[in-house]
Amino acid sequence: METPVLPTPTEFKAATRNQWEMAASGWNDHTPQIRAWLRTATDAMLEMAGVKPGTRVLDVAAGAGDQTLDAAARVGPAGHVLATDLSPAILAFARANAEAAGHANVETRVADGEELPVEDATFDAAICRLGLMFFPDPSRGLREMHRALKPGGGVCTVVFSRPEANPCVAILMQTALRHAGLPPADPFRPGGLLSLGKPGAIDALFRAAGFRDVATTKMDAPFRLPSARHYLDFVRSSASPIQQILGKLDAAAREEAWRDMEARLKVFETASGWEGPNELLLTAGRR
Ligand SMILES: C[S@@+](CC[C@H](N)C(=O)[O-])C[C@H]1O[C@@H](n2cnc3c(N)ncnc32)[C@H](O)[C@@H]1O
Repeated sequence: METPVLPTPTEFKAATRNQWEMAASGWNDHTPQIRAWLRTATDAMLEMAGVKPGTRVLDVAAGAGDQTLDAAARVGPAGHVLATDLSPAILAFARANAEAAGHANVETRVADGEELPVEDATFDAAICRLGLMFFPDPSRGLREMHRALKPGGGVCTVVFSRPEANPCVAILMQTALRHAGLPPADPFRPGGLLSLGKPGAIDALFRAAGFRDVATTKMDAPFRLPSARHYLDFVRSSASPIQQILGKLDAAAREEAWRDMEARLKVFETASGWEGPNELLLTAGRR
């Protein structure tokens, strides 16, 4: 078995940006499914961060802007939402989607969440939905959100919880690594999908970044789709680390790995479709 060489944070972020540049349209195309999957979590995140009419909201790792549009609707014409993301291509979808929805109060800015080009103390609320776990140094990202918030401003992030509660992600990773001839990976390694899922870890990071009134709420977020194949289509068109792991295999071996993943994910098929269990952590705090 080969021991993988870990990239530097700069290399890691360059690779992340490239993957999301390529996955941008696939992620955007899956917006209806992602929207339904994360409906309850998104509403709770906006509530916990204090996104209200007239407020200024910072959306970090905004992607194609699904939650940006919800924030824009909540703050209304007297409010403002700045959507930021590392990938210009995915953020272009956020811009286009905001325009199509008629939200003139949305601005977009390409930015690394660990180095935000924003003034100190200029936002009432900060949100980050399924983004922070991709940061090689999430504590830097949290310190940046803290700096951007006005005193008393609220933050809420959404990340995946522990591997046992997110078995689809765990199955995908284990199967891909086995097909690629790589050893099992530490699920909590920085930058991975489950990297912030260790119980208590994200609360400690929030406190270390200077936030007070820190609290994490666990939320079940089952992903309901017609079949395991539909879930794999979603995984294949988003920038999951699975593509990277399978990247070195030839096309036939890659397809064999995808077939194996699909077979294993069929355990979540029910009489009325496919239901992949997921558990999310919503962490809120205040500057
Ligand atoms: C799973 S998508 C989530 C997008 C959106 N928040 C949503 O929930 O639909 C993850 C996003 O994180 C972004 N991202 C990853 N690392 C980042 C970083 N260091 N700074 C800013 N954005 C980052 C990616 O470009 C991608 O758009």
